[in-house]
Amino acid sequence: MTRKNKRSADNATSLTAAINKVPQHVAIIMDGNGRWAKARGLSRLQGHKEGTETVSTIVRACKKLGVKYLTLYAFSVENWCRPKQEINGLMKLLIHFLSKKVSELHENKVRLRVAGRIHDLPGKVQEALTQVMKATEHYDGGQLILALSYGGRAEITDAIVKIAKQVKAGTLTPAGIDENVIAANMYLPDVPDPDLLIRTSGEMRISNFLLWQISYSELYVTDVMWPDFKEEEFKKALASYAGRHRRFGNIK
Ligand code: FPP
Repeated sequence: MTRKNKRSADNATSLTAAINKVPQHVAIIMDGNGRWAKARGLSRLQGHKEGTETVSTIVRACKKLGVKYLTLYAFSVENWCRPKQEINGLMKLLIHFLSKKVSELHENKVRLRVAGRIHDLPGKVQEALTQVMKATEHYDGGQLILALSYGGRAEITDAIVKIAKQVKAGTLTPAGIDENVIAANMYLPDVPDPDLLIRTSGEMRISNFLLWQISYSELYVTDVMWPDFKEEEFKKALASYAGRHRRFGNIK
């Protein structure tokens, strides 16, 4: 083994040793596909294509490292403003990803779920998602949650509409509305809040992601662009999380 190889093997070993506490739920803002592509003289869509490879890598890494829930911000409500060509390309990538990955989801007993205004997605995408969600709904080997046509404010708004309907129907009183009721009306109420929120590409923003659920999530921002965020980078994020002292507003 060369000295350089030995050093990187040692680093990998110490990184793995540092992950002595694994988050149950990791949420990721996958940012930087466009810049990654631009830096290489490629089209934005090629950046998204490479980003899809990273999605596969991180899904596998979650299984390997014991992360039970992975939520990926794949398409926001604001992303509908992007050029039609880019939107269509992203939707095609999504369909391709689903058809390619479904066997791996079965193999690992991973359940696919979606958070967002799924009815706004093109019919073909809805069909492909519904098919895989149905086929994997009984699995308990972890959950892959795709945030699609998702916005944190949209989710809170949708929850308020649901609650207002219950008040109108007389099944709920205004005095009965508390945080538990609001949480119960979010898109996926049974999913625990993220322990760790990762953002790639260095931007210090939440970008309307999981506004309700991330109140006490630990944050990890890396300059690495999403297409380059492979297992080693993911492990760095988990090692950072393992070193955090979560107090949830308490003093211990
Ligand atoms: C942000 O990068 C990324 C997106 C808006 C889309 C993310 C999509 C993928 C990773 C691929 C498809 C997803 C799945 C689940 C198969 P950006 O385009 O804003 O990058 P930039 O800020 O550098 O321009």
